[in-house]
Amino acid sequence: MTDVRSHQPVLGVLSGERPAVPPIWMMRQAGRYLPEYREVRAKAGGFLNLCFTPELAAEVTLQPIRRFGFDAAILFSDILVVPHALGRTVRFEAGEGPRLDPLDRVEDIADLPREADASVFAPIYETLRLVRRELKPSVTLLGFCGAPWTVATYMIAGKGTSDQAPARLLAYREPKAFATLVDVLVEACIDYLSAQLEAGADAVQIFDTWAGVLPPHEFARWSIEPTQRIVAGVRARSPGAKIIGFPRGAGALLPDYIERTGVDAVGMDWTAEPRLIRERVQSRVAVQGNLDPMALIAGGDALDRAVDEVLTNYGRGRLIFNLGHGIQPEMPIAHVERMLQRVRDHRA
Ligand code: CP3
Repeated sequence: MTDVRSHQPVLGVLSGERPAVPPIWMMRQAGRYLPEYREVRAKAGGFLNLCFTPELAAEVTLQPIRRFGFDAAILFSDILVVPHALGRTVRFEAGEGPRLDPLDRVEDIADLPREADASVFAPIYETLRLVRRELKPSVTLLGFCGAPWTVATYMIAGKGTSDQAPARLLAYREPKAFATLVDVLVEACIDYLSAQLEAGADAVQIFDTWAGVLPPHEFARWSIEPTQRIVAGVRARSPGAKIIGFPRGAGALLPDYIERTGVDAVGMDWTAEPRLIRERVQSRVAVQGNLDPMALIAGGDALDRAVDEVLTNYGRGRLIFNLGHGIQPEMPIAHVERMLQRVRDHRA
C-alpha cells in the first residue's frame, strides 16, 4: 500500500492539482525498445509467460522507472488476459501480434462463462504487490484493462484488424449477442480492476484503443455506456477510485465521453483539437497525452517542437504528459531522454 502522506504528482493531477511541471509517463513504456526488456523477454519464453510470472513482470514494470524516472509505472500485462480468463485461447506470435480463436457465432457467445476464472489473475495481483513494494512512494502505480469494445474486437476477429469490421458487423447484425459479450466483459473488468486497486494499484486506466472506428450512436452504446458501468462498479467497491479513460480516436466525442463516463482523466491521441479539448474537456477533467509517437521517433527539432506544442496547448491546465498512443519497438532511447528533459525544464 502507498504511504498516503507522500505526494504523488500523477494522483495530484487526477485530484485537481495543476503543477508547474506536468507529471509524465509513456503508454507501453515497458517493451522491446529497451535492451533490458528484450533480455527478460527472451528468458521468459512466451509473452503470456512473462505476464503471468510475477517476478519477471514486476522487473519489466520497474525497468522504465529505473532508467527514466517516470512519474507512473504501469502494470506489465496485456488487455487480452481477460479473454484468456474467460476460457478463450490467446496466443502471441512473434511478428504477428495476438491470435485468438474467433468468437463470431451467436451460440458461442451464449456459451461464454458469466465470470472470468479468478485464478488466472492471481499472479497479476502478486505482480502489483511486488512492484508497489519496490516503487518510491511518489511514483504512481497504474493498473489497467481493455475496454469491452476494444477487447471484443480482438475476441470476435481473433486478431487485430485495421478497421474492426468483424466486430462492427456483428454489433449491427446481432446486437443482442454483442450486448451479452459486452455485459460479460463489463463484469469481468469491474472485478479485475477492483482487485488491482486492492493489490496496490493507485489508479487504473481503461484502454479503448479502437473506440475511434465507431459512429457516434454506436460509440455511445459500445464505448461510453460500458465504460460508465465499469467506472460506477469500480467506485461502488473502491470509493474515490481514480480512473483514466483512453477512447483513442474519439475526437469531437470526447466531451460526451467524459461527461457520461465520470472518468477523472482522459487520454487523447495526437489528432485532438486543442481548443475543443481545453474548453470542453480539460475544463472538467485532467487530460493525458498527446505527443505523436512519430515525432518521438524523428527526434531533433521536430521532437522539440512537438513537445512544446503539447505543453503550450495543455500545460496551463491539468495535464499528465504522455504519448498519443503506445511507444514503438524502434524508438531511440536518446529521444525519450530528450523529451523528458524538455518537459521537466518547462515551467507553466
Ligand atoms: O504500457 C505498458 O508498458 C504496459 C504493458 C502493456 C502491454 N500491452 C504490453 C505488450 C499494455 C498496457 C498493453 C495494452 C494493450 N495490449 C492494448 C491497448 C493499448 C494499445 O497499445 O493500443 C492493446 C490493443 C493490446 C493488444 C496487443 N498486445 C497487441 C495488438 C500486441 C501486439 C503488438 C506488438 O507491439 O507486438 C500486444 C503485445 C504486447 N503487449 C507487447 C507488449 C510489450 C509486445 C509483445 C512482445 O514483447 O513480444
